[in-house]
Amino acid sequence: MGRVSRHDRIATGLIEWGSGSLRDLPWRRTNNAWHVLVSEVMLQQTSVTRVLPKYENFIAEFPTPGHMANASLGDALALWSGLGYPRRCRNLRETAIVLARDFDGVMPSTLDELLALPGIGQYTARAILAFAHRQDVAVVDVNVSRVLSRLEGEPLKARALQQLADQLVPEGLGWDWNQVMMDFGARHCTVRSPQCTACPVKKQCKWHGVGDDPAPLSAGASKPQAKFEGSDRQARGRAMRAVNDGVATQKAIVRAMNLEHDVERATKLLEALVNEGLLLRSGARFTLP
Ligand code: ADE
Repeated sequence: MGRVSRHDRIATGLIEWGSGSLRDLPWRRTNNAWHVLVSEVMLQQTSVTRVLPKYENFIAEFPTPGHMANASLGDALALWSGLGYPRRCRNLRETAIVLARDFDGVMPSTLDELLALPGIGQYTARAILAFAHRQDVAVVDVNVSRVLSRLEGEPLKARALQQLADQLVPEGLGWDWNQVMMDFGARHCTVRSPQCTACPVKKQCKWHGVGDDPAPLSAGASKPQAKFEGSDRQARGRAMRAVNDGVATQKAIVRAMNLEHDVERATKLLEALVNEGLLLRSGARFTLP
């Protein structure tokens, strides 16, 4: 019998964990690179539960980049409503426009071409390669970063994380590996209550729940979310929703933002939304673009 390396044991242990535990999610049932892109952009700042119903609708309306490119930004934002961070939707449409215009609507399958598209960074490019094109590349998000730094028992910088992640991908199993890593991080090796006692790679884990957790000091560690209640993000979200629901006058929108007591702040936020191309203003009336 040949020597089994630590990396092999980690890969085997986690793939086995995933074979019984992987969640059935719609973007895991497709190889369509556009659909994978849509899901990844939605999942970047929004939880799986909130993404699920929106994703299905969005894909039904915009099954190809061309469909989104030909729709108005307002129509896209209406479908995005409730997901938050609407700039993501605006950027996704910019990507769709380039895909439709320069790529015949076909998503490229090399890292360099993907990175050259507007709105696609290292994370998203690799997610498309792994999840749609089924290439053996590693996708490193906050969950994966936490699992890897714990396995190594020390905080890791972005480069070291990506390097280690790439080394761990079992040949031919890139898709499975990355999906498992995300679920393992989200549901087993969690921020606050990692299940170390029942961990399939406990023997390979240098941290194994003892001593300082190296994850918070690693690159890409999740920062505590800023308070939502009373935030600009909340007020912006309320404004977008109100306009989407047909509320048009500045006065009514400010009321929907719950900012009648601070009209100055509300006005600034509305101006910012206009400057970002997320709202259109004519006089004291607003519409989606
Ligand atoms: N978050 C980002 N990508 C994901 C995926 N493919 N499955 C579940 N959660 C994710």
